[in-house]
Amino acid sequence: MPPTPTHGYLSHATEHGFRRWKRLFRENVDMSNTESNAAGGSLEIKDSRTGSSYTVPILPPAAEGDTVIRAMDLRPIKVKPDEFGLMTYDPAFMNTASCKSAITFIDGDKGILRYRGYPIEQLAEKASFLEVAWLLRNGELPTQPQYDDWSHQITYHTYVHENVKTFLQGFRYDAHPMSMLCSTVAAMSSFYPNAKNIQDPAERHISIVRLLAKLPTLAAFCFRHVKGLPFIYPDNDLGYVENFLSMVARMTEPKYEGNPIFVKTLEVLFILHADHEQNCSTNAVRAVGSSHVDPFSAVAAGIAALYGPLHGGANEAVLHMIKEIGDKKNIPAFIEGVKGGKGQKLMGFGHRVYKSYDPRARIVKKLADEVFKVVGVDRDLEIALELERIALSDDYFVSRKLYPNVDFYTGLIYRSMAFPTDFFTVLFAVARTAGWLAQWEEMLNDKEQKIARPRQIYTGYGERKYDASLDHAAGHPRKKDAVRK
Ligand code: CMC
Repeated sequence: MPPTPTHGYLSHATEHGFRRWKRLFRENVDMSNTESNAAGGSLEIKDSRTGSSYTVPILPPAAEGDTVIRAMDLRPIKVKPDEFGLMTYDPAFMNTASCKSAITFIDGDKGILRYRGYPIEQLAEKASFLEVAWLLRNGELPTQPQYDDWSHQITYHTYVHENVKTFLQGFRYDAHPMSMLCSTVAAMSSFYPNAKNIQDPAERHISIVRLLAKLPTLAAFCFRHVKGLPFIYPDNDLGYVENFLSMVARMTEPKYEGNPIFVKTLEVLFILHADHEQNCSTNAVRAVGSSHVDPFSAVAAGIAALYGPLHGGANEAVLHMIKEIGDKKNIPAFIEGVKGGKGQKLMGFGHRVYKSYDPRARIVKKLADEVFKVVGVDRDLEIALELERIALSDDYFVSRKLYPNVDFYTGLIYRSMAFPTDFFTVLFAVARTAGWLAQWEEMLNDKEQKIARPRQIYTGYGERKYDASLDHAAGHPRKKDAVRK
């Protein structure tokens, strides 16, 4: 029997729905691969509308066994020759690979995350953020001379044009730092017009260096603006993370010295956030970058995507949720509300890909213990621990495989380091810039990539005649009462 694409199973956007779809698909498609090519096999599809059979090649399994068919191979399946042909319907990319990538590997069922083959746990323990940024981009760990040169270049480019300060002053005192960061990064493209020469490897390189170097400076300037504090210029004697903390926190001291535990913690958090394959913001950077716009504009698009509470904004949302709960005794009622589907989610729980513990959350929890040894445990942390305990033993969360994700504890760590809540996602953005840029460059070098342009299933009217007879001048501002007297 061929697969019958009824709405019953194609419309499910949930993992539940996807599993069910996969099962039905497996049951309905003849996977015997009678004409399988040696490498990948093939799929025999019979179209019940026409009785025609099609052989669709299954591509050879990729490095970690991912198997796919090309969606374009379904296009010849049609009833009439002049028809467009069969498309796949996949809202939210539940089962669509948008690219080939050699950067980051995730096995969501086993809780595995690797950058260029290196387990995240090992990188978090031993590597530096700049080393990881090099690794993500270049595919190999840097040699000592490469690392020294890379660190030097990034340190050298930390300063931003003085005009940046002028337009930051235009933001109100209560502007959200993510909207400030997003617009400021987008504005950087006007300072570096040559960045649009994206096919020139030298221009690409300098743009990547500039973005990595200037993101901490811009982020710190956003912080200082909101606080009404003078901007602190980069101190190029300091390492990447300590320099960032210096620009955020330095007051009258002639030389900033960060608390080593905070510096180490932030370095590890930056490594954990550096990349996460095709998440919402990376997809945004790739999609916008596929129009061949300059990388400052593409990264600004990534920052906009990251801002949302379902993505990077979740670390901020966790803290708001904990504040709203207010006391451990209110947790059961809150959990009941979440389960009752009243629109409130347990923020910091669940993940599109991880269906077991998020490996980053495990590392973050350990870091949190170390930080709280220094700053002490407070009521919010106690609420978080109790939320986690209850959720992990509640069938609603267990059956849906909803585990704490990386954002559940990062907010608490950031807050204990005295970062304001609305600044948390900015920290995520600084780190993720490394991954966005590696993915952006990989996309540009991928000969199969073109401008990202999905198809749609049109559900609107058929052709109809325009016969409205509006007076278009009626609502125009020149109307008497709108004219200033
Ligand atoms: N609290 C309560 N129920 C949840 C949650 C949650 N946090 N997450 C998912 N569910 C339920 C959801 O309602 C659905 O239930 P049902 O099958 O009865 O309809 C089921 O679990 C499957 O969820 P889904 O919405 O199909 O899952 P998704 O893969 O589309 O969404 C997610 C993933 C991360 C957007 C979602 O889990 C969520 O909104 N979590 C809270 C926000 C959050 O912490 N985001 C940070 C993600 S990690 C960092 C990053 O990538 O930026």
